This record gives sequence, structure tokens and C-alpha cells, in this order.
Amino acid sequence: MKEKMRLGIIGGGLMGREAASAFGRWFVLENFPVQAELVAVCDLQDKLLEWFRGVPTVKLLTKNHQELLRSLEVDVVYVAVPHNLHEKIYLDVLRAGKDLLAVKPFGIDLKAACVIADAVKASGRFVRCSSEFPFLPGAQRVMQAVRAGKLGRLMEIRSGFWHSSDMDPAKPVNWKRQNVTNGEIGVMGDLGMHVAHVPFRLGWKPLRVYAQLQKIYTQRPDGKGGFAPCDTWDNAMLHTEVSVNGEEVPMRLEMKRLAPGEMNTWFLEALGTEGGVRFSTKDPKTLWVFERGNGKEQIWQRIELGHQMPFPTITGGIFEVGFPDCFLQMWAAYAAERAGALGERFGCATPEEAVLSHKLFAAALESHASKRVVTLK
Ligand SMILES: NC(=O)c1ccc[n+]([C@@H]2O[C@H](COP(=O)([O-])OP(=O)(O)OC[C@H]3O[C@@H](n4cnc5c(N)ncnc54)[C@H](O)[C@@H]3O)[C@@H](O)[C@H]2O)c1
Repeated sequence: MKEKMRLGIIGGGLMGREAASAFGRWFVLENFPVQAELVAVCDLQDKLLEWFRGVPTVKLLTKNHQELLRSLEVDVVYVAVPHNLHEKIYLDVLRAGKDLLAVKPFGIDLKAACVIADAVKASGRFVRCSSEFPFLPGAQRVMQAVRAGKLGRLMEIRSGFWHSSDMDPAKPVNWKRQNVTNGEIGVMGDLGMHVAHVPFRLGWKPLRVYAQLQKIYTQRPDGKGGFAPCDTWDNAMLHTEVSVNGEEVPMRLEMKRLAPGEMNTWFLEALGTEGGVRFSTKDPKTLWVFERGNGKEQIWQRIELGHQMPFPTITGGIFEVGFPDCFLQMWAAYAAERAGALGERFGCATPEEAVLSHKLFAAALESHASKRVVTLK
């Protein structure tokens, strides 16, 4: 009998709904000891509560997070609300005796984070903070390479997360672009944990920092015909030093909301005297590995990655990251076309296309056997 983890979500916006999507396909995890079930959701917006009505396991929908926390049905809470609400709601979760998966940045500022961390300690509850990219096969391989100690003396580390969505000055302001709700740390609060998680876990903890912070667009449309201040830092480059085996090593952490041409690009690179390793979600199937060897030539090798996940799912390692999403889309296309709602979108292969493929394959067999060109009828 599997242990059951009954979940509540506070904040059913972007991340709250992503969490629901993960719980909805939980059973694809192979030989996994825990069963997850989303049972309760709290958000202030009717349209979002309505959205969660589509999740069959959800029994409680509320606008009051205390009501969710009073539920005896909830063991673990995922709280995905704006940063100014982290401290209050995380503390409420702990007071209610629930475990917590918090979202980054874990409080609007350092003071809030320390208050939360102290409360976690005092509560004895199990608490972690969200950061997804380290679970990608490429990120895992970078960590393995570093831990295997094959890089020699480390010379340089670079970790970054680049967006371009804010390149459009007409993009309306939202809570992530204002200090009062996002925090004065700006883009660092937004993207920083993604960039820092793996380096910190590898023991690369900054000794000092020289920061280059930029505010690029200082106002944005307010969605009501006017403009609103946009006072958060847009881009941050943190030049740090870390100590590795007694040597100081430069580590650059890059967090950018305005990185021309980049769409959620997460990358990590470590270069040493004997080897190097590099991964970027821009090229999600590729792990770049450098080995100095004893030759005179400088060679970066490209290793093709598959769907090798730390927690295996039914999608095996010979598939690529993203295949499960394509599978969902294929079924959506089938269902939409069946319901007459496909429109201009790409549809599933038709019986005619399947038969044509067979004609081609049959002709190929004939061609190979006869060593002739075969004309398809
Ligand atoms: N890990 C990631 O990749 C990632 C990506 C985006 C956001 N985040 C983090 O997730 C958190 C939420 O971001 P988001 O993009 O989902 O924001 P969002 O604006 O889409 O969602 C926030 C939700 O919280 C709700 N809310 C506000 N006050 C509430 C209250 N008192 N009780 C209940 N619900 C309340 C809002 O109605 C909204 O639906 C932030 O901390 C953000 O930094 C993480």
C-alpha cells in the first residue's frame, strides 16, 4: 500500500495550475512509493477556482487560505502566491501543522526568509523551496561530472537564467515588476533560486559579490490606458568568488528579464584545468563535455541526452525531454478533431496517411529485393 500525500494549493495562478498538472499525471512515476492527490485549492479569483473544478480529486475550493489549512484532509501545502505574501502564508501553513513546498524566493527579502526559516526549524515540519531545472537530465549530468572530480582545478563557473518576455515595452506591468509585491531584489527574487540552487548544492557558496544591476524599463502600461512604475531590477549579473578545494574560483550568476532572443534559457557551465562541462536548455538534448586529455587539440564533445530523469517515468531514457508534452498534444488534437474543434491546427495522422506510409514501405521492400526503382501507385 502506497503512502498517500494529500495536497492543498494556495495560489492557483500560473504555478498553482502547473502543480495541478503534475499531480494529475503522478501515476506515470515508476515504482514510486508515494501517491499524490490534490484535494483542496485556495485562490482569490473566481475564474481560477472555476478552473480547479475540472480537477476531479479536489473537494474543497475556497478564497480563505485558513479554511484550507483547517482541513484535516490536507497533509502538504504548495503555496504559490506573490512574494509579499510568502511570509504570512508560509507561517500560517506551519502553524496549522502542515508540511510545505514553498515557492521561491522564500519570502520577499532576507528578513522574511530568516523568519520563515526559524519558524520551519521550530515547527519540525518538512519544508522545501521550489526550483525545477536541476531535474533536467543535462543539469543532472553537469552535477555528476563535477562530483566525479574530473574537471581538475576549477577555473570558472557560470550559472544563468535568461528571459526575453520583458523586451516588449508594451507588456503591461504585473506584481513581479513592482518592489512592493515582488521585493527590492527584483529579478533576483524572480530568477535567482533557479540560478543558485545547483551551485549551492555543489558547495559553491559565494564569499563576496560584485553586482551589476540594471533597471531598463522603469514604467509599463498599467492595462487601464495609463502607465505604472516598474521599479524592480530587470537584469542582474553577480560576479562572485567561491572557495573550491582551498582555491578561490570566479562564479558568475546571471539573471535577466531582458536577454535578447532568449526564452526561459537556463544554463550552467563549469570549466577546469582538466575538463569542462556545459548545459543549456537552449539545446536541451546536448551535454557539452571538454576533456583536455594529452592531445594538442581543444575538443568539446557533444553528448546526446535523452529522457533520463532522476525519478523514472514510463517515458524511458531513449525518448527526449518534452515527449510527454507532445503525447498530450497529440491526444488533444485527436479529441479536438473528433469534437469538430481542431480549426487550423495540426491534426493526427489520417488513415489515408497511414495507408500511404505502408505503400511506401511495401515499395521499399520490393525495391531492396529487386534492386530497382519502384513507382508508387
Ligand atoms: N518555479 C518557477 O519556475 C516559477 C515560475 C513562476 C513563478 N514562480 C513563483 O511562484 C509564485 C507565484 O507566481 P505565479 O507566476 O504563479 O503568480 P500568479 O500571479 O500567476 O499567481 C498567484 C496567485 O496567487 C493568488 N493569490 C494572491 N493572494 C492570495 C491569497 N491571499 N490567498 C490565495 N491566493 C492568493 C492570485 O489570485 C493568483 O492567482 C511566486 O513566488 C513566483 O516567484 C515560480
